[in-house]
Amino acid sequence: MSGVYTNIKFSQNAIAEFLDIYGNERIFVISDSVLKDKPEFSLLKKFSEIIWFDATNSEPRTTDVDTIRQQISQLPLVPDIILGIGGGSTMDLAKAGAVLATNAGPSEKYQGWGYNLNIGIKCVTIPTLAGTGAEISPIAVLKSPHKKLGINHPCVAPIQTIIDFSLTQSVSVNNKFFTLMDCFAHNYEIARSQTSSIFAVTIAKAGLGLCRDILSSNELSEPTLLSAEKAAAASLIGGLGTAGGRVGACHAISYGPSSLSPIKHGESVTLAMLALKEIYSDIYQEVGHYLSANKVRLPRIQDFDLRKGDIDGMTAVAMKMDLLWQSHYGEQWPQFVNPKSIAKVYEKMFDA
Ligand SMILES: [Fe+2]
Repeated sequence: MSGVYTNIKFSQNAIAEFLDIYGNERIFVISDSVLKDKPEFSLLKKFSEIIWFDATNSEPRTTDVDTIRQQISQLPLVPDIILGIGGGSTMDLAKAGAVLATNAGPSEKYQGWGYNLNIGIKCVTIPTLAGTGAEISPIAVLKSPHKKLGINHPCVAPIQTIIDFSLTQSVSVNNKFFTLMDCFAHNYEIARSQTSSIFAVTIAKAGLGLCRDILSSNELSEPTLLSAEKAAAASLIGGLGTAGGRVGACHAISYGPSSLSPIKHGESVTLAMLALKEIYSDIYQEVGHYLSANKVRLPRIQDFDLRKGDIDGMTAVAMKMDLLWQSHYGEQWPQFVNPKSIAKVYEKMFDA
């Protein structure tokens, strides 16, 4: 299930513009907690119904969505709009909260594809970090006790996103780097996928060019509005790529560590790209170059309290990613992917 359903608006003052459009409606805000004390986001304090989500320490969990669902059900009146403002995790939480508000929980039962969902509360996004198109994608990636997987359904898509390049300026180099590496991986994987449409491959190649441009320059450490515009364009392209495109092996491998530890998605994806040297040989050196050019330290998998004893658990998670393996290898993927071959990749990650 894929497609693009979101109206995209560019703005030089996104929050004020949001208020202009939706100010008379009942609004429920889900905001990244790092924005709470930043002056450029002071308008957010105007909202009485607001959740400050700590995206720095946690990816959104199905239990977070269930809590939001319950919170909304206790309000005297149902909100008209849920605003998700922040990075991909916060926007995904807002999208999931909006759709679960009109569907019976728990949210865990909708992780995957093909479930029936009622239309949710309208969701609007304002990204404060250029990522992989969470601002427009019909996907909300969530962690549940046994897996990390998106709710993939057109009803998850926001009705509108308001893109303001100035809001992404103050993010740390480290955060921007790993988010952009995820964007790089999305575009790379969609471009070489066996199952992507021509449309998805064509735009993914354009997105890859933008990512390469930023990662190989000093644009992360010395950001300008132009570099922020490039990153926003790469992110939107990542979201558009969900129309007929799908990520592959690197994402399948990245979900193992993510499911068992608090590692950030972009870090896990970068570790996976390097551990998959045999099948991603054309980008192995390139990824290493981006790390050194941007003076970023890649954490080791052991930094997240993961040990070789966790390989079986991570392998079980990666083995469930049928559609991603199919994206990489085509219909014959079971000939190439088995618990032994996946465990070997994780061994490499530990020995790196
Ligand atoms: Fe990703």
